[in-house]
Amino acid sequence: MSGSAKAPPSSRVLPHELPASLRDAGLENWIREPLDDAVDRRRRIIMPPAAAIIGTPAAACQGALLAEARHPDTIFMMGDNPALPKMPERPALKDFFLLRFGPIPRMHLLQSARVARENGLGEKVIMACLLHDIAIAGLLPANHGYWGAQLVGPYVDAEVAWAIEKHEALRYFPDESVGYRYPQAYVDYFGPDYRPPDYIRREHEAARRHRWYMTSRLVTINDIYSFDPAAVVDYDEFEDIVGRNFRQPEEGLGFDGSPVAHMWRTMIWPNNFL
Ligand SMILES: [Fe+2]
Ligand SMILES: [Fe+2]
Repeated sequence: MSGSAKAPPSSRVLPHELPASLRDAGLENWIREPLDDAVDRRRRIIMPPAAAIIGTPAAACQGALLAEARHPDTIFMMGDNPALPKMPERPALKDFFLLRFGPIPRMHLLQSARVARENGLGEKVIMACLLHDIAIAGLLPANHGYWGAQLVGPYVDAEVAWAIEKHEALRYFPDESVGYRYPQAYVDYFGPDYRPPDYIRREHEAARRHRWYMTSRLVTINDIYSFDPAAVVDYDEFEDIVGRNFRQPEEGLGFDGSPVAHMWRTMIWPNNFL
């Protein structure tokens, strides 16, 4: 057990038995023991975000986690998580790709962009492909087209952001005129009886009539062929296109005071308690 007073960080990690409720809910994984070479030897709790745990047993454990944080050798995670690579002071798009995105979404985005380029498509489409699932990669999967479009909105052409937003709805609806069929992956993921909700159907109808429809449709076309696990694509292949099509803020993404800066900061420090 831990000591009785809140002492400055010690060099010794005290053995600490977790309450059974937290162990049973699998929340041991949200509690970070200090790394071997850590200067600050306190245990850090990551409070799982509501969006990740609503509907799961972990949602009942917030009280137990709050109680854990009262232990003298334990605090909530704030600032840099020692388990994550440190981001530069002025992060650029590339830093999020390399230091924050997981290998599967990162490679999916890079492969989509590469396929779009190999298909001879324009830079706006390539850029939209490179960014289309950025919200899945770093933020939230539900409504990812909308989150993604907002994330990049201030930094890309309006057509690119629009295409990213609408790919969310267009993915569910075939367009035989360009050879796009309902993805088999969705049959596997959601079952053959899945029917997109009405708001998605309305979004699709409206997007079809929009002058940028084909830009977003091309995102979906180049999307479905991009799950080759063996492919390796270097981000640097797209540095030139990013340079011309992404207005990288001088202060760094997250610190430019834009209306979406907080979303980039959430990806820099995804485990902050507040
Ligand atoms: Fe997507
Ligand atoms: Fe995708």
